[in-house]
Amino acid sequence: MQFTFHNPTKIIFGAGNLSRLGEVAGEYGKKALIATGGGSVRRSGAFDRAVESLKSAGIAWAECPGIEPNPRITSVARGADIARKEGCDMVIALGGGSVMDASKVISAAVLYDGDPWDMIRHGQDNVYVPAQALPVITVPTLAATGSETNCGAVITNTETKVKSFIQIPLLYPKVAIVDPELTVSVPKDQTAYGVCDLITHVTESYFNGVENTPLQDRIAEGVILTAMEWGPKAIADGADLEARAQVQWAASVALIGWVQIGTGAGYPVHMIEHTVSAYHDITHAAGLSIINPAWMRFAAKAHPTKFAQFARRVMGVTSGSDELSCALAGIDRFEVFLKSIGCPTKFSELGIGGEMVETYARETLRIINDGNGNLPGRPVMTEADIVAVLRAAL
Ligand code: NZQ
Ligand code: ZN
Repeated sequence: MQFTFHNPTKIIFGAGNLSRLGEVAGEYGKKALIATGGGSVRRSGAFDRAVESLKSAGIAWAECPGIEPNPRITSVARGADIARKEGCDMVIALGGGSVMDASKVISAAVLYDGDPWDMIRHGQDNVYVPAQALPVITVPTLAATGSETNCGAVITNTETKVKSFIQIPLLYPKVAIVDPELTVSVPKDQTAYGVCDLITHVTESYFNGVENTPLQDRIAEGVILTAMEWGPKAIADGADLEARAQVQWAASVALIGWVQIGTGAGYPVHMIEHTVSAYHDITHAAGLSIINPAWMRFAAKAHPTKFAQFARRVMGVTSGSDELSCALAGIDRFEVFLKSIGCPTKFSELGIGGEMVETYARETLRIINDGNGNLPGRPVMTEADIVAVLRAAL
């Protein structure tokens, strides 16, 4: 195990901390671009409270509203234009992962004369790596992606039907104000998708990483067990602030880097899902909850021991005549959990058929491969493997 780890994002966690936004923003500039989604923060009152806090600290603001789920590169360009015209010197992301991801790319796009799509890895020969960006403050309103405390962003180009990512240290938010009170208005389905997303963030590195990462394994297992305990409570009663707080913290921890450190893991389930999302504009974690169990059954055959460990330690499996049958029993139980919280586990539930599975596989590999034409992961996936996993999930 070898690694260098540096996550510089300051985290301010706890109910009510939105009121500290102005004080925090005052450290980074005088005028903020507030990026928001389709209106949930206006309806919940979070936007007004954010503005009030900025005003009381003497911070001016402009808004970039309307960032869509699966945020588009056109919204990034629009946000950068507004920030330039308004003379903003920082970006505040007030929303879910889509708003936070778009905000990070906006923060770099403001200072870049070219097309922001150049920064997103989409199979081009030369990916533009920005060297400067405005400071970003994230204020998540949905517990899911962990975007608040990481340096990744996922953006969609609807013209070319590509959804892909940028992940560079420059894009770490300066501060994440993680106030679980902001998530009490999240509807049941998005709450469940968030639980699935955060679990998938740790299952990817748990199953795809190198051997001998016992501490990372235990953190991942803790994240999953926490999400499985508190997620259903948050879904059952959205106003349960304790449950909201535990799920929010689990989401942040899932992708802050602690589980991923030193594992060298690929993210095959995410990479495949991003391609399917690009074609169908589905909710990210709805795609994950369909692909992940099918991928697990594929990967468990290659290295059943880790899957058996998951089955025993996380899913409570005590039976199984051998490692593979124990592993498969654990995956079955995991799928039952996903169904129990209302996540789909087959593409047919989303009205997606099998006509284009070869295209999804080809496109995934065009955007990311290991140089030998395979998708990084454990095991690496050929085009035929991806097609087989997708077919198993129809
Ligand atoms: O747009 P608004 O009106 O805000 O409504 C949103 C949206 O409809 C709603 N919502 C958010 N907060 C709410 C709320 N509704 C009521 N009350 C609130 N407090 O929820 C819907 C979904 O929002 P979105 O931001 O799209 O969800 P999520 O946080 O799941 O983000 C998904 C995006 O993040 C990317 C995904 O690919 C997807 O594009 N990811 C980003 C990652 C990262 N940066 O680290 C990692 C992830 O794996 C993921 O790929
Ligand atoms: Zn995800």
